[in-house]
Amino acid sequence: MKKILDLLSEEMGAAFEAAGYDAALGRVTISNRPDLCEYQCNGAMAGAKQYKKAPIMIANEVAEKLVGNAAFKEVVAVAPGFLNLKLSEEYLLDYLKGMESDAKFGLEVPQNPKKIIIDYGGANVAKPLHVGHIRSAVIGESIKRICRYAGHDVIGDVHLGDWGLQMGLVITGVQDRQPELVYFDENYEGEYPTEAPFTMTELEEIYPAASARSKEDAEYKARAMEATFKLQNGVRGYRALWKHILDVSVTDLKKNYGSLNVEFDLWKGESDVHDLIPDMVKYMKEEGYAYISDGALVVDVKEETDTKEMPPCMILKSDGAALYNTTDLATILERMNIYHPDMMVYLTDKRQDLYFEQVFRCARKTKLVTPETDLKWIGFGTMNGKDGKPFKTRDGGVMRLETLIADTKEEMFRKIKEGRDISDEEAMQIADIVAVAALKYGDLSNQASKDYIFDIDRFTSSEGDTGPYILYTIVRIKSILAKYKEQGGNLAETKLQVAQSDAEKALMMQLSQFNAMMNSAFEEIAPHKVCAYIYDLANAFNHFYHDTKILVEENETKKSGWIALLVLTRDILETCIDVLGFSAPEKM
Ligand code: ARG
Repeated sequence: MKKILDLLSEEMGAAFEAAGYDAALGRVTISNRPDLCEYQCNGAMAGAKQYKKAPIMIANEVAEKLVGNAAFKEVVAVAPGFLNLKLSEEYLLDYLKGMESDAKFGLEVPQNPKKIIIDYGGANVAKPLHVGHIRSAVIGESIKRICRYAGHDVIGDVHLGDWGLQMGLVITGVQDRQPELVYFDENYEGEYPTEAPFTMTELEEIYPAASARSKEDAEYKARAMEATFKLQNGVRGYRALWKHILDVSVTDLKKNYGSLNVEFDLWKGESDVHDLIPDMVKYMKEEGYAYISDGALVVDVKEETDTKEMPPCMILKSDGAALYNTTDLATILERMNIYHPDMMVYLTDKRQDLYFEQVFRCARKTKLVTPETDLKWIGFGTMNGKDGKPFKTRDGGVMRLETLIADTKEEMFRKIKEGRDISDEEAMQIADIVAVAALKYGDLSNQASKDYIFDIDRFTSSEGDTGPYILYTIVRIKSILAKYKEQGGNLAETKLQVAQSDAEKALMMQLSQFNAMMNSAFEEIAPHKVCAYIYDLANAFNHFYHDTKILVEENETKKSGWIALLVLTRDILETCIDVLGFSAPEKM
């Protein structure tokens, strides 16, 4: 379906044309003076110069042409030349009927869907997820769902950090604790055990201890580097041990991501492209893209128009070791070969901006991608505590994702129990669902690139621009619908009607914006647009609800019209929270 603003602009454009003016002047926008009108058109102001005429004269002539037009109930030309518009209730009703009978509520799906890979999550194996990773997971998951809803073919890849020095550190840490393990016996030729020699809890102790020690003890660091080298070069015992680290970690990661409704299609990592690196390097050298500088192999990515420093992209260090860049480039190569994506979207913290600029330029220059391949990087801001500094635990440590979720659930549980008679068990079940919405909405409602303050009290509040407020609204609608059924009503038989009040019309107009909003959330890769929309929609609904006694209405046609409107509102709200990556409970 066309967007309602486009349809109204077409009507207006035709009126301009009929009055002898350029149809392009007929662009209609949502009113910025809702006290005066619902929509407006400023085309007469814009046309005044071109036609050397007072804008009010143009506006009057155009208004004349719109007398009896089916789309507008009211067209008023006001000084100095604005066209103030009110929509016809019948026209709005027809539009909503169209939405109701469309699988995507009027959102047009592309004729040629794009293949899109979203690279998000980015967890590092054997290290606990910290709050920095929560933004990547939460925003990336929503972007994936928005692109999918918009009708594209989308693959989400977690792109694990599973190949760098941290793996050597863990292996060295394990060796110190259990030197007798068969993985360290160079003469061992048998099968390796299938059970991992550590649990996740142990792994989580091993990495920080090894990492801390390597910072003070140069010899220890050299051992870790040696272990990394051996692992990357295929020493059997190291590979077998690494596989255990990976398995134990991934099981734990799946659980953690799962608790946030985050799911990946691909669980690939840096290690997966290890074998592609030698050929890629050879190609870059042969084609003359890469050259040796100070012992390292680099590709220049500077461009003449650069105003800031743009260092070359390093492909191999002077000791021949691959870097973060190298695996990212090889991953681009692999993705192009296997999936032929039209677009790759990366999510990381915004401090990686220069890094991604280098990698993307290098991929283009060395023709790892085609000129049409769209490479997008979305850098997100920091999640801060109330003190404006990166969010920490009470004792100043790095806040882990699990702790953050647990704390939010606890606060949600407390709020749900407050002054109510509800069993702990039920309150806990509700808190599980609502806490995820509180966390995610708190994050997603901000523009991704901005820092934001994690305010557990505000995020879990049932009032204001919060996840719980949206869920309360949905639950309220569901409960009215349930009561309607108890009264013997049949939802399938209800029929939308022309708006009976201003509040009802406002709700209907807000619903009619759905396709335009979803389209721009996709085009601009901007989940916060979905949040802003549902916040307005929830407000419009609640206003209507307080204004209208639905269930006691005696006129069955009216009642049925309202119920049908509730069904549409519920469906759109639920579609939106689904693309944001959370869901609503049945009761709250
Ligand atoms: N593992 C990285 C980190 O923790 C994030 C990976 C982002 N993705 C990428 N393709 N580089 O910072």
